[in-house]
Amino acid sequence: MTEEVKEWWDLTAGWFQDEIDLDVGVNWTGTTSDDDLTLLSDVAGKDALELGCGGGQCSVALAQRGANVTGLDLSEEQLSFARDLAAEHDVDVEFVQGDVTNLEMFPDDSFDVAFNAYVFQWVGDLAACFRETHRVLRPGGRLVFSMPHPVYDLADPETHRVEESYFDTGRQVTTYDDLDSDMVTYRHRISDVHNALTGAGFRVERLLEPGSDDPGHYEEGPWGEHRPELLAKLPSTLIFEARAE
Ligand SMILES: C[S@@+](CC[C@H](N)C(=O)[O-])C[C@H]1O[C@@H](n2cnc3c(N)ncnc32)[C@H](O)[C@@H]1O
Repeated sequence: MTEEVKEWWDLTAGWFQDEIDLDVGVNWTGTTSDDDLTLLSDVAGKDALELGCGGGQCSVALAQRGANVTGLDLSEEQLSFARDLAAEHDVDVEFVQGDVTNLEMFPDDSFDVAFNAYVFQWVGDLAACFRETHRVLRPGGRLVFSMPHPVYDLADPETHRVEESYFDTGRQVTTYDDLDSDMVTYRHRISDVHNALTGAGFRVERLLEPGSDDPGHYEEGPWGEHRPELLAKLPSTLIFEARAE
């Protein structure tokens, strides 16, 4: 299952990094960074694991804040970009190829913080990921992540009418005529994410839904799916903060 996600990311990583052109920083959403939310400001001296580090922009930012960072990703192409970025910014980050649902390369109790931004829509088995994350976090360690808010994609970006069902969860396949690989993503209900976290031994401490009812607060994203008028009506990003008990 993850093989098809890996294939997609290896194929599209170069294009993705060119288009998104992310600054180094913890970018929870296109419009909300950790400069505003300060969820990961207190990481100096901590051992931090980014679960799906992509091009490494968040990992490099945490290393600049003094954390000992390990970035894990499925895609060698994404990791290659991340390694170059860390070298460019003169920080040490250990980048590792792997799957967030199987963290066997890390012993128990290895990290104080695990985090990611916009990765879990690519992961089908979140329960496995949370069990593994709980295992590698030290007791009291934090897991902080953002993901697409599951209500945002239900509305048509032009008409704002609800066109899809919140209950239609699981594997979604998007095909592109000009690409050899399909994009495979997963829809998760909020309750499923919450229950997978508590089932793995986490206490959910905070849910955040950043946003504003002012369309002027937003800019269009690079792929046109982020429409300011719709963003002012529905949350596009969901953030969880959980603690390993
Ligand atoms: C949209 S990027 C997010 C990364 C970064 N925060 C960003 O905004 O660019 C999603 C990343 O998750 C990685 N990914 C998807 N499924 C994964 C899995 N099961 N294990 C590890 N990485 C995964 C992909 O390879 C990709 O680099």
